Amino acid sequence: MKRRLKIAIDGPAGAGKSTVAKEVAKQLSYVYIDTGAMYRALTLKVIRQGINFTDEYEVGQLARETIISIGHISSQDGLYSVFLDGEDVTDAIRAPKVNQNVSKAAKIIEVRKHMVYLQRQMGEQGGIVMDGRDIGTVVLPNAELKIFLTASLEMRARRRYEELKEKGYDVNFENLIQEIKQRDEMDSNRKVSPLSQADDAILIDTTDLSIQEVVQLIIVHSEGR
Ligand code: DC
Repeated sequence: MKRRLKIAIDGPAGAGKSTVAKEVAKQLSYVYIDTGAMYRALTLKVIRQGINFTDEYEVGQLARETIISIGHISSQDGLYSVFLDGEDVTDAIRAPKVNQNVSKAAKIIEVRKHMVYLQRQMGEQGGIVMDGRDIGTVVLPNAELKIFLTASLEMRARRRYEELKEKGYDVNFENLIQEIKQRDEMDSNRKVSPLSQADDAILIDTTDLSIQEVVQLIIVHSEGR
């Protein structure tokens, strides 16, 4: 029987991680786990409860008592729902307000500890494609295949712009560039598990590649591992 791998895909916002990871999972009949969605779900709860993101103790406490799960509706087309304490928040976690605040929650050490604990449980069996910022470095350091996806800032902002427009949000391209820049800075410079490429990760720049080209590259790398 073929070995069921753990595939880690990391990179900055808008590099194409989730689209690519979903497609790789589909082609290999693996489960896709979007770890960013977990940080987003917690962020939504913090906003709803009116807790200040600078109150790290409160936010960390909230993380520990929050149940976040990902339900796979169809592994065939990569459809999944994100549940926050049992409520389906799949759409709500993509709102601009969550985009603007998620890095603040993701830099809190107690939040990260709890998320990493949950993510390791989800990943330990193998047969998964997990995407995020610290999957290859912290969550699954023993993943058999690690990919680091990047793209130019301009291209990443363009992708986010199209995605938000499609969902009906009123977005300004220049503001989006600034927001992504800020998020990159916070994600890359935070003290705990900053966004960084694992030593053994394969770097793929997706700026001039189609989704299918990136997916194919990853599938080829997965063969024989
Ligand atoms: O991939 P995304 O844009 O949905 O991620 C949302 C935020 O969560 C992003 O700003 C960084 C953070 N994140 C993280 O710190 N670690 C992860 N493994 C995944 C996401």
